[in-house]
Amino acid sequence: MRQANHWKGLGLLSFAGAVLMTATSSKAAEDVVAVRQADMKAMAAAAKTISGMFKDPTSYKSAEFRLAADTIRDKSGVVLSGHFASEAASAQSKARPNILEERERFDRIANDLRDYAVALDVAAEKNPGPMTADMRMKPGEAMGGGPLGTHVPNEQLLSAMPAEHAFHLMLQTCTTCHARFRME
Ligand code: HEC
Repeated sequence: MRQANHWKGLGLLSFAGAVLMTATSSKAAEDVVAVRQADMKAMAAAAKTISGMFKDPTSYKSAEFRLAADTIRDKSGVVLSGHFASEAASAQSKARPNILEERERFDRIANDLRDYAVALDVAAEKNPGPMTADMRMKPGEAMGGGPLGTHVPNEQLLSAMPAEHAFHLMLQTCTTCHARFRME
């Protein structure tokens, strides 16, 4: 009886060892997933900050708006793409495997996000005081990106666009990517 328990114990030990080794080899993959999910959450918080200021323009503060835009700027583009460089061997990830197959499309959306964030940063820099009418969408202005969808038109059009419009296109960029590349 004692002997049997002893062997059972050993078996459990080597099982634990195997689990530990698997855990170590996929640790790096899990770290990448944790980092990119944390980045996504930080971008969501930043987008919420900006959204709050458009909803209540009296709460607008140029520096805070910029900080939020810069958070998105710094976590999008090549930084975002780089977090999805290889297939994540992690059950925690909601990323779809088609990211690798559709690399160019994924990277383009990540870059669009960055372009919109940069445009928002520039707008806040230009408006250090209260939120100006220039930053707001005009009545009747279409929210979407027209026939081009969420893709950044070109630099002139983007810089001529009110910040609020760029912000809506930015949010649609998040949604566009999630619809194609995130599970659920
Ligand atoms: C280029 C594609 C892409 C863009 C653009 C993008 N996301 Fe994501 N997002 C993803 C993918 C893929 C996941 C799943 C990541 C995972 O679980 O490994 C994700 C996950 C998330 C999550 C869940 C994080 C978690 O804890 O599981 C949030 C929140 C999120 N994104 C918010 C945003 C916001 C807000 C924006 C826009 C400001 C945005 N994302 C833009 C691809 C994108």
